[in-house]
Amino acid sequence: MSVIALVGGQWGDEGKGKITDLLAEKASLVIRFSGGDNAGHTVINPLGEFKLHLTPSGIFNSNTTCMLGNGVAINPAVLLQEIEELQQRGVDTSHLIISDRAHLIMPYHTLLDKLDEERKGKKAIGTTLKGIGPAFSDKTARLGIRAGDLLDKAAFKERLSTVLSLKNDIITKIYGAEPLSLDGIYNTYCEYADRFSGFIRETESVIREALASKKMILLEGAQGAMLDPDFGSYPYVTSSSPLAANASIGSGIGFSNINKVLGVYKLYTTRVGEGPMPTELNDETGDLIRERAHEFGTTTGRARRCGWFDAMLSRFTVAINGCNGLALTRLDILDALPVIKICTGYIIDGKPIDYFPSRIAELAKCQPVYEELEGWQQDTTGVREYKKLPPQAQKYIKRVEELVSCRADIISVGAERNQTIITRDII
Ligand code: GDP
Ligand code: IMO
Ligand code: MG
Repeated sequence: MSVIALVGGQWGDEGKGKITDLLAEKASLVIRFSGGDNAGHTVINPLGEFKLHLTPSGIFNSNTTCMLGNGVAINPAVLLQEIEELQQRGVDTSHLIISDRAHLIMPYHTLLDKLDEERKGKKAIGTTLKGIGPAFSDKTARLGIRAGDLLDKAAFKERLSTVLSLKNDIITKIYGAEPLSLDGIYNTYCEYADRFSGFIRETESVIREALASKKMILLEGAQGAMLDPDFGSYPYVTSSSPLAANASIGSGIGFSNINKVLGVYKLYTTRVGEGPMPTELNDETGDLIRERAHEFGTTTGRARRCGWFDAMLSRFTVAINGCNGLALTRLDILDALPVIKICTGYIIDGKPIDYFPSRIAELAKCQPVYEELEGWQQDTTGVREYKKLPPQAQKYIKRVEELVSCRADIISVGAERNQTIITRDII
């Protein structure tokens, strides 16, 4: 039996979609366990290029059941559009299922996300405006509406009516905006209910059978550890946990069943949205990486902030996730650089620190300590065996492994499924 939790180790966009698509070929079940359509997972395989926000990246294998787990917040409008686009492009989506416990993103969530960001002005988080914060707040405040609620329309209307009256008070009295219509939301969501009723179900039996079959189960993370509400750069974080521990809670698979935590890391660092980023490069090298790598957000199109690989940060996130393997992506982006730097530690007020700061004010003060390595200035996109990588690239990977105390199982040298080097069996 192999259950793999695949998690982002930085600020998201590490290449989780690509690696999930690659590994899903062997999986009987792929489960998205957190986040919502704030995620943007790009997959390039023989069927084409796809940008998925909600659908698990295993969807291209029709023998793999793909589940939106209870830990995901689903905007049904986005999911519907995504399914229709996939179907139009010939992708079979009949193997998709939705946990009846997954929360729904409602129109007041997206509206409140926008109103809240506007109100914060310069202090805005820079959210994706997808309603994520308000939806996960409602989940913990016991005000959420779940996928399963759509299956009983009378009960749904009653619940919606109670919640919406509170939300409309907030929308009108606090933000001075127009209230939302109960009938409008009810009718639209009833259409979603009709469309999705065949997908929404209890998922315990699916998981039980998958575990019994001893085939691979893949738990696909969204976002990255630095966006975790507990361990990330709070408050510049998202609102559900992207960590491996939440792969268990967000899917309903008991923690002791997970035997592999695969951390996905870009071999440099990017961040979208606000908040400190110690290795950010506001210079030509940062621009070069952004242009070479097309570092613009899949979900919002915003330019991603780029910087050197931060081993201080990555060591911390390998530890909090309990990673026992890494997928290192985007090696090829560094092909052009004569010199490559790795941040090995931080200095505050002239003194090195031996912990990862919890406060953003402290993180913002951190000066990175860099080690310089020679670049390889050769194309690696066609390499499929570790030994055939230029010696300087091998040295760089080795140093990253050493600094973060974890070995690489996969090295990615291009966006396409086959542009991959497998250095050892994943399980
Ligand atoms: P995710 O959110 O973690 O799934 O990552 P995104 O899809 O948002 O961003 C990763 C981007 O890098 C996508 O455009 C991928 O197609 C691309 N990508 C993934 N791995 C590689 C790689 O090894 N090299 C290159 N050049 N691109 C990659
Ligand atoms: P994937 O799964 C990168 C960032 C937003 C913002 C912060 C809070 O593609 O790696 P939110 O809308 O979640 O309330 O925004 O989190 N963010 C991401 N950044 N990749 C993502 O997902 C992200 N999902 C959220 O930019 O800074
Ligand atoms: Mg992404």
